[in-house]
Amino acid sequence: MTKKEQSKKRKRPKKNQKPTKSDGQSIPSGKGVSDNDAGSAKRRKLQEPSKASSFLEKMRARLSGGHFRKINEKLYTCTGKEALNYFQEDKSLFDLYHAGYRMQMSKWPEQPVNVIINWLKKQSPSLVVADFGCGDALIAQSVKNTVFSLDLVSNDPKVIACDMANAPLVSSSVDVAVFCLSLMGTNYPSYLAEAYRVLKPGQGLTCVFMNSGWLLIAEVKSRFDPNNGGADPEKFSKAISGLGFHSVKQDFSNKVFILFYFKKKDKQNSKGKEIEWPVLKSCVYKRR
Ligand SMILES: C[S@@+](CC[C@H](N)C(=O)[O-])C[C@H]1O[C@@H](n2cnc3c(N)ncnc32)[C@H](O)[C@@H]1O
Repeated sequence: MTKKEQSKKRKRPKKNQKPTKSDGQSIPSGKGVSDNDAGSAKRRKLQEPSKASSFLEKMRARLSGGHFRKINEKLYTCTGKEALNYFQEDKSLFDLYHAGYRMQMSKWPEQPVNVIINWLKKQSPSLVVADFGCGDALIAQSVKNTVFSLDLVSNDPKVIACDMANAPLVSSSVDVAVFCLSLMGTNYPSYLAEAYRVLKPGQGLTCVFMNSGWLLIAEVKSRFDPNNGGADPEKFSKAISGLGFHSVKQDFSNKVFILFYFKKKDKQNSKGKEIEWPVLKSCVYKRR
């Protein structure tokens, strides 16, 4: 290409070099700079708002991520009653927590709640279910069974707002009690005692409710890793048996979570016997 041709090419204004509006801001026409400089300046200007907005988005996500971890830590280090008061004072914290929780869950290859839903779909739809710490109440949305969904805050008329240590459910009225990643409070044994109360018995040759009395618990594996400060799953299982359950199965096949399956016994173990409950450490979600 000759010099003349080159300079002609440079002078011809390009269509996309007209002042453009982006995010409501006009791009200056670039007076005092050559056409080429003006072009690159305009390109820079066009890029800047998107860079800035993506930076802001990242900052916002980090801040809410930090906020999520703070709320998460609070829930693992207080009692259910304290958690109820905490969310009652500011319900938006519950929404913030769940937005963060959903984001964390989206990274898990398999979600424990789906394993439980699939298990329930294989049982009779006549079984009455209590979902303790239901979150978004996915179980109730996915199965035909009657499901009592309990959580600290209710954003849905079908969710019962309560501290699950005091579930507003009738004794011996439920066939399946589910705790999916919800044994968060430091008083978690009282949640399990409440599940025992509301469950129908599930064992014994003379029992007519042979398919009732199920207690299903899904928990993060790291909480049950004794080599890393976690509880011994056998001690946990023994403590629940002490409440009056039989251990039916423990499923360690998933990388991230464990599933415990128990059935309520006909008769409660002798009352007054001290149960040794292991401390369940907090589940800490990693920074993105
Ligand atoms: C980690 S989320 C799991 C939600 C749902 N089960 C799932 O698997 O998607 C734990 C839930 O338990 C609830 N929770 C914790 N302690 C509770 C309590 N004492 N009473 C009722 N709900 C509680 C939290 O509010 C939260 O919604």
